[in-house]
Amino acid sequence: MKLFLLLCVLGIHSLSLVQGETKLVCYYDSSAFLRQGLAKLDVANLEVALQFCTHLVYGYAGINRETFELQSLNVDIDMFHYGDITKLRARFPRLKILLSVGGDHDLDASESNKYLNLLEANATTQQNFIDSSMILLRSNKFDGLDLAFQLPKNKPRKVHGTLGTYWKSFKKLFTGNYIVDINAEVHKEQYTELVSKLSRALKSVDLSLTMTVLPNVNSTWYFDVPKIVNHFDFINLAAFDFLTPLRNPEEADYSAPIFFLDEQNRLPHLNIEYQLNYWQQNHCPTNKLNLGIASYGRAWKLSTDSGVSGAPVVPSTQGAAPGGLQIASTEGLLSWPEICSKISQNATAAYRGHNAPIRKTTDLTSKYGNYAFRPADEDGEHGLWVSYDDPDFAGIKADYAKRRGLGGVALFDLSYDDFRGLCTGNKFPILRSIKSFLP
Ligand SMILES: *[C@@H]1O[C@H](CO)[C@@H](O)[C@H](O)[C@H]1NC(C)=O
Ligand SMILES: *[C@@H]1O[C@H](CO)[C@@H](O)[C@H](O)[C@H]1NC(C)=O
Ligand SMILES: *[C@@H]1O[C@H](CO)[C@@H](O)[C@H](O)[C@H]1NC(C)=O
Repeated sequence: MKLFLLLCVLGIHSLSLVQGETKLVCYYDSSAFLRQGLAKLDVANLEVALQFCTHLVYGYAGINRETFELQSLNVDIDMFHYGDITKLRARFPRLKILLSVGGDHDLDASESNKYLNLLEANATTQQNFIDSSMILLRSNKFDGLDLAFQLPKNKPRKVHGTLGTYWKSFKKLFTGNYIVDINAEVHKEQYTELVSKLSRALKSVDLSLTMTVLPNVNSTWYFDVPKIVNHFDFINLAAFDFLTPLRNPEEADYSAPIFFLDEQNRLPHLNIEYQLNYWQQNHCPTNKLNLGIASYGRAWKLSTDSGVSGAPVVPSTQGAAPGGLQIASTEGLLSWPEICSKISQNATAAYRGHNAPIRKTTDLTSKYGNYAFRPADEDGEHGLWVSYDDPDFAGIKADYAKRRGLGGVALFDLSYDDFRGLCTGNKFPILRSIKSFLP
């Protein structure tokens, strides 16, 4: 208590870090505010969640492709919404509210390598990014900035669908070994430099800096872990989407396993444990790492050649299944309430057809994740296979994070959890389940 008072007197911001409190970082994709119908998440819905969160991450800001200034990606909503969100601190005084930049939302058709350009930019241009960030953060009363830079992603492995075998001889070309950025070494150094300048600037005005490692951005290429970790309050590993229907249209598999399942030619780095080990072995303090958990599932369309067992790796899939009714904008993505509404509670219910339920297979080993599916009809339609973390499995992951001594968990994101309580009447069941496993 004395320490708490002292820190208040000194005005030190990062209380939670000083106390080593377990973090529950809640991502909020503000585009959910613009969704229609039941998928629209408004501030009142959000408030239900905030009793559980230590941090709220507002997603997402972008960078201007010419000036590299931090900017809103949707001025019409953000000009009011930034303030509406940071005002929530009045009701949740211990909540830290960060603005995240990138997050795979800053899509610029004419310039796909903006974030590499920022790394390569001269000092004047980088200062634009830093200064504009400080202005945007302070004028909207954010507590800090989260870097979710859209750096090039690992190439997914291609499989030969019709033969159902991997092109082993071409493995070098078609696995993650395929080089996507020949200047990765240089970019890694540039990232370190930018981060060090940025953190110095933000610290001088008492703003925090955190980082999100986006799915399939290879940490080995871009992050000089020992040199960058001290600049961040914490690092969120978005350790999911290792396989997705858009990246891996021809085969379906667990999209966010905890452990490596060394069968069927899987790649050893596409799992949570490998990613955590990588950061730890490179001297990142364990309590600075937060384990990212997705509240949505990834859904593939099955063909008649995919079989009826559903056991992954599922062959001969046909890319993404249609998105859910609520979040129809993203192919192959189903929110947790959309998944739960499809899962049959009735073992004898019809098994085929458009409205047929999907059957859940629980991972009794608690290692790889759950999935649910319905095979394709004889004419090849309506087949669906979805990999997802339900509240139970999200809890298993939170427990794993705790037992590994991590700093906490990061949920991606609140808008895909069942914030209306449509599944069981319980609002934010995934968030609650995670919270129940954290001290
Ligand atoms: C830095 O880069 C910007 C944009 O490319 C350019 O306009 C400017 O002249 C450069 N400044 C210096 C000092 O090199
Ligand atoms: C980065 O990619 C290489 C080559 O595919 C892989 O061996 C390595 O494990 C990856 N690193 C991480 C942290 O995933
Ligand atoms: C389960 O599904 C079967 C077949 O569609 C149906 O006849 C039965 O009434 C259902 N049972 C319940 C409890 O809904």
